[in-house]
Amino acid sequence: MDRIRGSVEFRNVDFSYEDGIPVLTDVSFKVEAGESIALVGETGAGKTTIVNLLSRFYDTDSGEVLIDGTDVRTVTLESLRSQMGIMLQDTFLFAATIRENIRYGKLDATDEEIERAARAVNAHDFIMKLENGYDTEIRERGSRLSVGQRQLISFARALLADPRILILDEATSNIDTQTERLVQDGIKKLLKNRTSFVIAHRLSTIRDCDRIMVINGGVITESGTHEELLSMKGDYYSLYMSQYRFLSEGA
Ligand SMILES: Nc1ncnc2c1ncn2[C@@H]1O[C@H](COP(=O)(O)OP(=O)(O)O)[C@@H](O)[C@H]1O
Ligand SMILES: [Mg+2]
Repeated sequence: MDRIRGSVEFRNVDFSYEDGIPVLTDVSFKVEAGESIALVGETGAGKTTIVNLLSRFYDTDSGEVLIDGTDVRTVTLESLRSQMGIMLQDTFLFAATIRENIRYGKLDATDEEIERAARAVNAHDFIMKLENGYDTEIRERGSRLSVGQRQLISFARALLADPRILILDEATSNIDTQTERLVQDGIKKLLKNRTSFVIAHRLSTIRDCDRIMVINGGVITESGTHEELLSMKGDYYSLYMSQYRFLSEGA
C-alpha cells in the first residue's frame, strides 16, 4: 500500500463469520479522505465487523473494500496496518514508563514530540502531577491511573503515530466526569485531518463526527448528520430516544 490519502469504499460487501449466518449484507458506502464517521447501532448490529474488514482482520465473502481505490486484499498487511491506528475499547498500556508508552506510537520520537502530543490531547497536566511525571512507571494491571487517564495516554500515542485512518471503538465504561471532558476533547483532536471511523456511544462524540452511519441487522439503514437523521424519525431517532439522551446526560 502506498501512502494512504484516506478515501474508503465498501462495494456490495457480504460477510459472515459462520456459514449460513450472514452478518453484513450488501453493504456499500463511500467515505472521503479526512472525513470522520460515527458508526452507531444496537449491540450485534455489525459495527465492529465493518472496521474488522477495513483493517483486514477478516476478508469479505463477496464485494470489495477499497482504500484510495485499491482493494485491500491486493496489498501487504504490514503496509496497510502501519498506516492505520486501531484503538479498541480496552486501552493497551504495557509495564513501562508513560513516556515509553506514548513513544510506542513513533519509536524515534523525541521527548519534545512526546510532550507535544500529550499536551494536544490534554494528558500533559495530569502526567505532570504524578510523582515522576513522564517517567512514572505504569503497571499493566491495577495501576493508579484511572480509565480516562489511560485513554488519554493512548490518545497521545495515537496522535504521535499520526495514522491516515483511525479506528476508535469508544469505551462505554464510566469515566469520572472530570476526565470525561478531557477525553471528549482528546477524541476531537484525534479525528482532525484523518479519515476516522468511531464506534460511538456518546452523543458528544457522535456530534463531533462529520457523518453518522446507522447499522441495523448488518445493513446500513441511514447516513447523515445528527439533525438530518433525527428529523427522519427512523432508526437513529429510535436509538437516540432509547439510549443517547441518557448517555449524554451522564457524560
Ligand atoms: N468472531 C465471531 N464469530 C462469530 N460471530 C461473530 C463474531 N464476532 C461477531 N459475531 C456476530 O456478528 C454479529 C455482529 O457483531 P459485531 O460486528 O461485533 O456487532 P457490534 O459491533 O455492532 O456490536 C453479531 O451477531 C455477533 O454475534
Ligand atoms: Mg462492537
